[in-house]
Amino acid sequence: MDKKDPIHFVPNRKETTKMKKILIISAMADVELNYLIENLQEKQVIENKLCKFYTGKIYENEVILCDSKVGLINNAAATTLAIEKFNPDYIINQGCAGAISRDIHKSDIVIGTDCINITSINTKFKEEGKGYNLDDWELINFVAGEKDRLIPQNGSKELIEIVQKIENKYQYGKIHYGRIGSGDIWNSECDWLIKMNEKYGILCEEMEGIAIYTVANQYGIPAIDIRVISDNEILKEEYDRNVSIRAQEFTMNLLKEIKESNGEIILFIDE
Ligand code: 5AD
Repeated sequence: MDKKDPIHFVPNRKETTKMKKILIISAMADVELNYLIENLQEKQVIENKLCKFYTGKIYENEVILCDSKVGLINNAAATTLAIEKFNPDYIINQGCAGAISRDIHKSDIVIGTDCINITSINTKFKEEGKGYNLDDWELINFVAGEKDRLIPQNGSKELIEIVQKIENKYQYGKIHYGRIGSGDIWNSECDWLIKMNEKYGILCEEMEGIAIYTVANQYGIPAIDIRVISDNEILKEEYDRNVSIRAQEFTMNLLKEIKESNGEIILFIDE
């Protein structure tokens, strides 16, 4: 057959799937990343001044595990660096968090449909000697040149839909979808926690999600915050950071599902 003949030419097609590149960020690597690190194939470690990366493959996905350390500043820095260095398709932030609702228990999982900064606060003016009133404290984002307002950062709908496909595999508790409160604070004052839940609809508090969602959204990269509940102060369910293994198992299932539902086919045509 003459390959150049436009009528008889049948290209020799080779099909292949472009695997997703997934960045997974966690603050407490010894309990929040250890299981994922164990499952990482072709592992390479890259250290830098801000954080530590482990690159490799899980279920054929290209994976970058980032040990980011605790808190908003560390996580804004680590997320930015990781995006610039690896240009991931998806970002997963996973770890533990404290529930601030009476309906959410230790070992349940909260998926952050959105996230707000619980340490970005404006207060009303009070004269010296008039004390302070937490009830007047407003969560707000300060925006240069614009009206200050609360700006929730959304989690990725695409990733939440993939999570919904695997939620029934989770054996240890319920899966909740909703708002995560994030800030450099560990608050154990139950009245404040209940207020955060009732006034702002926050389901749990942690210290990284808002930094990661904010940076990911600015770059337009889909991100999801997956938090297993390690404590519920209102219900006196005591902190156990070791439950973080369950978020990692959940993330492993998510990686498997991402691989299986990855429909992006590239055709290479050999002439
Ligand atoms: N309040 C704040 N952070 C919590 N974390 C777990 N539970 C809570 C809680 N009740 C997570 C944070 C941080 C680490 C100290 O634990 O996200 O990474």
